[in-house]
Amino acid sequence: MNTRVLTGITTSGTPHLGNYAGAIRPAIQASAQPGVDAFFFLADYHALIKTDDSARVARSRLELAATWLAAGLDPERVTFYRQSDIPEIPELCWLLTCVTPKGLMNRAHAYKASVDQNTAKGVDPDDGISMGLFSYPVLMAADILLFNAHKVPVGRDQIQHLEMARDIAQRFNHLYGSDYFVLPEVVIAEEVATLPGLDGRKMSKSYNNTIPLFEGGAAALRTAVMRIVTDSRQPGEPKDAENAHLYMLYRAFASAKEAGDFRAALESGMGWGDAKQALCELLERDLAGMRARYMELMAKPERIEDILLAGAEKARKIAVPFIARLREAVGLRRLGTAKAAGASAKKTASRAARFVSFRDEAGSFRFRLLAADGEELLISVPYADPKEAGAVMRRLQSEPVSLRAQGMAYVALLDETPVAHGPDCGEAARQEAALARTRAALDTFAG
Ligand code: TRP
Repeated sequence: MNTRVLTGITTSGTPHLGNYAGAIRPAIQASAQPGVDAFFFLADYHALIKTDDSARVARSRLELAATWLAAGLDPERVTFYRQSDIPEIPELCWLLTCVTPKGLMNRAHAYKASVDQNTAKGVDPDDGISMGLFSYPVLMAADILLFNAHKVPVGRDQIQHLEMARDIAQRFNHLYGSDYFVLPEVVIAEEVATLPGLDGRKMSKSYNNTIPLFEGGAAALRTAVMRIVTDSRQPGEPKDAENAHLYMLYRAFASAKEAGDFRAALESGMGWGDAKQALCELLERDLAGMRARYMELMAKPERIEDILLAGAEKARKIAVPFIARLREAVGLRRLGTAKAAGASAKKTASRAARFVSFRDEAGSFRFRLLAADGEELLISVPYADPKEAGAVMRRLQSEPVSLRAQGMAYVALLDETPVAHGPDCGEAARQEAALARTRAALDTFAG
């Protein structure tokens, strides 16, 4: 099976350079690779979480569709659709909502940030927070899981949402006793993951520091570039290129050689004015052709509408049969077809211990061994490579593992190397019991 790559873009604004370099460009590049089935969609339900300005949502859907098409997306090759044209997405969202622990959502950065802001302002912690915002990660999980995407290219700020999608998928799989969902992996374009804006902070509409992509034409692009904040070093003075966000912007559009030359020129005294001029030229080289296509598309919205509806039809060829299977799994079945097998599968599953992989705060890959009731029995050491974490996890399932007490905690060793730790049990009796439960859990995987 081909690798499914899926990404969505929220239709609440006009695309800027950061959206292009951080999301659109890498996604389109990935979609052109052999062995890849790409799914790109306009996350217009997500837009409703951010704004109640209907004109802005409507306009943004059009602009974003035109942008992706102008940027080289081939709707014949890629499945390109609007979220709101796929009724199976909100349907799956509900199925997932019902297996998502509220505590998991309480920990979402976006929600927590809003609560913190309210607390700082001294107003009610939930002031202005809709259920849409609170449940945002579940809708996003539905977007991804409905198409069983393997890889999801997103910005850094979305890593936590991907972890949540994996958690939710694992929970659903576990509860309903089968691998319904693929566990999606996040893909971050390391070089250009988040582009800095005019003031050096992350380029974002909310900071009002964006460089427009196509809107306003070459003139608007130039005006924005001229407003990029630099330090006060004069022409002739060496610049600190590495810490100049102007250089980071340049690098995102240049070849390695061009970036190196530009950097060297700054370090040997190129003036900021000349540097901005060079950045303008570089951007025009990439964007001028696309901008012309964009303007053409914007003039023919019906053409875009047809493309999107055809995309939705293609997407629903997958979504409709899959949601039928999921409805079956949760018990929303045709009357008279009660399935004994389904019920017993669930029982077996809920009695079983399980491994759950995740990405920790530092970005490393780890896994936990959980008892049937969810108690944490082991947490792995961090791994830089997800494949390595996966390999160790499989070894724990298939090879003899030694468990050894360590203080009031314990460790699991493979070839005498500690690969995972148990919690501190506080007292010997509890430690002994935990060791026994861990041994029993590991035994369920053997054979
Ligand atoms: N939340 C994403 C963002 O703000 C957009 C999005 C919605 C998305 N659903 C998605 C991205 C599914 C990837 C996959 O950038």
